[in-house]
Amino acid sequence: MAMKLLIILSLLFTLGSADIIIDVTDFGTKADGKSDDSHAFVKAWNSACNSEDSTTFQVPAGKYLLYPTTFGGPCKSSKITINLKGELIASPDINKVKDGAWIRFEKVEGLEINGGVLDGKGALYWVCKEDDGDCPIGAKSLLFNKCKNVTINNLTSMNSKKFHIVFNDSKGIKVHGIKIRAPGDSPNTDGIHVEGSSDVLITDPSIQTGDDCISIGPGTHNLHVERVTCGPGHGISIGSLGHHLDEAGVQDVTVKNVVFDGTTNGLRIKTFARKSNGFVKNIVYDGVVMNNVENPIIIDQKYCPHEHCPHQV
Ligand SMILES: *[C@@H]1O[C@H](CO)[C@@H](O)[C@H](O)[C@H]1NC(C)=O
Ligand SMILES: *[C@@H]1O[C@H](CO)[C@@H](O)[C@H](O)[C@H]1NC(C)=O
Ligand SMILES: *[C@@H]1O[C@H](CO)[C@@H](O)[C@H](O)[C@H]1NC(C)=O
Repeated sequence: MAMKLLIILSLLFTLGSADIIIDVTDFGTKADGKSDDSHAFVKAWNSACNSEDSTTFQVPAGKYLLYPTTFGGPCKSSKITINLKGELIASPDINKVKDGAWIRFEKVEGLEINGGVLDGKGALYWVCKEDDGDCPIGAKSLLFNKCKNVTINNLTSMNSKKFHIVFNDSKGIKVHGIKIRAPGDSPNTDGIHVEGSSDVLITDPSIQTGDDCISIGPGTHNLHVERVTCGPGHGISIGSLGHHLDEAGVQDVTVKNVVFDGTTNGLRIKTFARKSNGFVKNIVYDGVVMNNVENPIIIDQKYCPHEHCPHQV
């Protein structure tokens, strides 16, 4: 009797903790950094996404070339954990992106990403930007659009063509121990951009890049940022705001324990000088160290980058 109960209990335990393991190399990746592995990643993702159980998606060490790829939901699986031991590499080709993102997660709920390196191969794109500015749409390296419950630990993003990591229209985000690297003169390579998103916690990021270390766009609520090192970079910015007449506000933002080192700005709030019902409220900055910062605190209500402000009043 006791034996039977034990068997039933252990069976229940096994069922309850079922975790499907999906290894991307079983889907035909080459992992040589030269062959296109995007299709294998999408097949592996679809298999994880359609699984009834929580799933671990493994990417072993190696270099995987990915063309712009969407990892789409909604998924049947309630939780997908991506263990990234390898390095994902973008094409340096500046024409290869159609919709503004290299790696896109769309409508995914319950996602965790651990470790790994993203190499956006941005150098040729930056040269185009510096030379004539008339360039194809560049790529954000990693975009989360309409996602919920996303955790990212220990990811490294380097040399993105445009922004490194973007959360848009998403909710319930935790980002811990992330590392961002791009040259101090690389254009528009913001580190982490949050927009239209709420309940976001960012802890212990180390950011060295060519634009804002963290930028906070319209519609951001309940964002907590703690223990940041920033520099080179343009600081931590709320904005730019005032793009539209009808624009969601930014509120309940805490930025705590930051070290800025050799940045152009420290704490910045910037809005275009035009009619808008957008707003900024309940912002707390606490425990900030400025080393060699050009504008430690700057609130600019007539933001006009490169003297190009068509809507300026
Ligand atoms: C998201 O996380 C919250 C709190 O951890 C949990 O209550 C909720 O069920 C999760 N939702 C999804 C869709 O994973
Ligand atoms: C992140 O990296 C640190 C230091 O290498 C390690 O102690 C920690 O366990 C890692 N966290 C996760 C969730 O991988
Ligand atoms: C961000 O979310 C808004 C609102 O859903 C949407 O209109 C916009 O296209 C999204 N941006 C991207 C880059 O997906």
